[in-house]
Amino acid sequence: MDKLQIQGGVPLEGEVRISGAKNATLPILAGALLADGPVVVGNVPHLKDVTTTVELLGGMGATVTIDERMRIEVDPTTVRDYSAPYELVKTMRASILVLGPLVARYGRADVSLPGGCAIGARPVNIHVAGLQALGADITIDGGYIRARADRLRGARLVLDTVTVTGTENLMMAAVLAEGETIIENAAREPEVVDLANFLASMGAKIQGAGTDKIVVEGVERLSGTSYEVLPDRIESGTYLVAGAITGGHVRIKNTRPDHLDAVLVKLQEAGAKVGVGDNWVEVDMRGRRPRAVDVRTAPYPAFPTDMQAQFAALNTVADGVGTIIETIFENRFMHMLEMRRLGAEIRLEGNTAIIHGVGRLKAAPVMATDLRASASLVLAGLVADGRTEVERIYHIDRGYEAIEEKLSQLGAQIKRVPN
Ligand code: EPU
Repeated sequence: MDKLQIQGGVPLEGEVRISGAKNATLPILAGALLADGPVVVGNVPHLKDVTTTVELLGGMGATVTIDERMRIEVDPTTVRDYSAPYELVKTMRASILVLGPLVARYGRADVSLPGGCAIGARPVNIHVAGLQALGADITIDGGYIRARADRLRGARLVLDTVTVTGTENLMMAAVLAEGETIIENAAREPEVVDLANFLASMGAKIQGAGTDKIVVEGVERLSGTSYEVLPDRIESGTYLVAGAITGGHVRIKNTRPDHLDAVLVKLQEAGAKVGVGDNWVEVDMRGRRPRAVDVRTAPYPAFPTDMQAQFAALNTVADGVGTIIETIFENRFMHMLEMRRLGAEIRLEGNTAIIHGVGRLKAAPVMATDLRASASLVLAGLVADGRTEVERIYHIDRGYEAIEEKLSQLGAQIKRVPN
């Protein structure tokens, strides 16, 4: 298992290109199952979760080809097996995204029920209840969600909680259902909008994506398409924090600044000068120590839970006291305990972390526990005196394309070494 070695203390300087969004790519690849012909997806990031999704689709019999530029073609017309096995679902919960498309298109799905997760319980009851309301017959048997349906029928769905993949699964189920489906309390994340745009390019009729009410008029069939995934807003935010935390000057390009509002506000509060263009953003924190910021996570357009750990890292070295409140996942503070090993002063009270900035961290070996936690430990390592080693970085490879290359490009002293 590889680890990352980081020699801290270098202010980052330069430009970095943002990859396609992981959390848009995964539902889009699952959505390819809905088409009657080949689907080509571009701007796909080179990530472990993408490989897992390709394996999942291949296992169903879909014909999947990937070119050297990571354009993925999925031909779903050869699908003969309608299941997502435990072996894959346990490595990637987003596998649940094939549930809606399989039931809608083929009338059956056997998808392993995702188990526990390092960041919270993460049940899928809303996905299941929504599909039942659309007419699917669902049983849980042997650890699998077994769904059967003739043609799904449109319905009005009022989601209990705002759920991103839940909204996506139900939207994908509704596009081939008979009649109109209304999804109330829908997630408004840009990735939901990207999926809706992708489905529309196949002939789906969807209105309201990006608001909390999505209306889908079911169609008989969807055709193949070619689609480019939107830029990753969480990768974007992570590199901006990398610039700010190191007292550097970083520009990210090929991004969508309009998806970063909540993050940019916090960077400004932290004292960074923020510049924005049509597809780029830069932060300038040269010669200054960040000020501590308070953060409260909530569904989009509020501050994203996927950026919480990175701002926690920023607060560890900031001037003042910053409070982080996590409202989406009940156990997303594992990185706080690891940051304490680097000398951070953090008090935890339930879903609140109170962080006293200490100015400097001190290198130590730390262990990644989930994707965004690993990113925050890398950020902390960039400002720790000495050599920090981040172990279990397979978590980071699930969601950050070539992170050590991109950070090196900005001047960081970071390398991947075998354990
Ligand atoms: N929830 C339920 N029941 C459900 C579904 C969700 O109670 O049926 C709860 C969850 O337990 C959680 C809340 O609803 O407390 C919101 O979770 P959500 O369903 O929105 O999360 P998700 O769809 O499983 C996606 C991203 C996550 C991101 C969250 C929140 C993908 C593939 N994953 O997960 O991304 O943190 O939305 O924005 O889109 C990551 O990339 O590191 C990551 C974890």
